[in-house]
Amino acid sequence: MKLFEPIKLGSLTLKNHLALAPMDTELSGLHGEVTRDIIIYYTARAAGGVGLIITEFTAVDEIHRLTSPSMYSDRFIAGWSTLVEKLHSFGTGVILQIAHHGGRALERITGTKPVAPSAVASPIYPEVPRELTRDEIKDLIAKLVRAAERAKAAGFDGVEIHAGHGYLIGEFISPHTNRRTDEYGGSLENRLRFPVEILKRIRESLGSDFVVGFKFSAYEAVEGGIDVQQAVDIARYMEAQGVDYLHVSVLSFPLPERRFPSVPLNLYPCTSSGRAGGGGQEACDGAGDGGGGYRHSRRGGADFAGRIGGYRGVRSCAYRRPGASLAVEAGRDIPAVHKV
Ligand SMILES: Cc1cc2nc3c(=O)[nH]c(=O)nc-3n(C[C@H](O)[C@H](O)[C@H](O)COP(=O)(O)O)c2cc1C
Repeated sequence: MKLFEPIKLGSLTLKNHLALAPMDTELSGLHGEVTRDIIIYYTARAAGGVGLIITEFTAVDEIHRLTSPSMYSDRFIAGWSTLVEKLHSFGTGVILQIAHHGGRALERITGTKPVAPSAVASPIYPEVPRELTRDEIKDLIAKLVRAAERAKAAGFDGVEIHAGHGYLIGEFISPHTNRRTDEYGGSLENRLRFPVEILKRIRESLGSDFVVGFKFSAYEAVEGGIDVQQAVDIARYMEAQGVDYLHVSVLSFPLPERRFPSVPLNLYPCTSSGRAGGGGQEACDGAGDGGGGYRHSRRGGADFAGRIGGYRGVRSCAYRRPGASLAVEAGRDIPAVHKV
């Protein structure tokens, strides 16, 4: 792999293997509007030369939103469109991360009880949430799909389904937070039904050229939560369902020492060959100079080098190479399982 050569992500050809991972900027307007500051922030990254920008957590539902940008109404399309047009002018691919705060929302901010697959006490939830009804689940799926349709209308190249970090979709896929006994809980297939329905309905509406990625936490550090073996099964299953890439992260709730430890973060283009699994490891170097990704690529390994910059400082990471696994267990800084 050559860092500055093009790479395909589904139907999208990126000019190089550099990606900006999604990161809350806290720069959106009161209702989640795209602001001048957000445009300046992302444009600086595009001007810096990244091939792909995955924009930050974006709310699909007004009711449970905290402070993130929004895509729950058509009125947000114009602002996003201005941003996307600007980023495309640098030849950068742009993906919108669609998400819902779920059980990690806060009643004192939203004025309503957080919702989740199950009403259980957990370190993942700041408050004990209310269990969603099946009708509410269908409604939320429709909201996520509608946000993807708006993303397409705004010119985005695709969306990333955020099923990591203990937010709503991640709460469905985790056996720790999902204790449902209907078709959305229990087996791996049932727990993945929520994101799979989102994926299928996006495909029905927008076709196969619109990129759909899937981000999830491969290790939750909580008893009964997702572990590395389950992560491999999740990756294989979602790849078989037709996502264009897997974005592998860790953790579902902030730990005292760090919110996002520097363990391997992988952006992994899917092929029909079913590559999830296997062996191999590329760890973030965390040096903050982009050197990790660059060194890995010079060794001929990584698919993507990601760089994250913001108020917590600039960090760097090499992303998963083709044929390599979700070998999170070999990474640095993996915390002990949290007992509940
Ligand atoms: C301040 C901050 C905000 C973040 N916001 C998001 C986000 O909005 N969506 C998301 O999926 N990940 C978010 N992340 C996680 C990153 O995308 C990434 O998964 C994590 O930082 C691990 O990669 P690293 O070791 O290279 O930092 C955020 C990370 C940081 C540090």
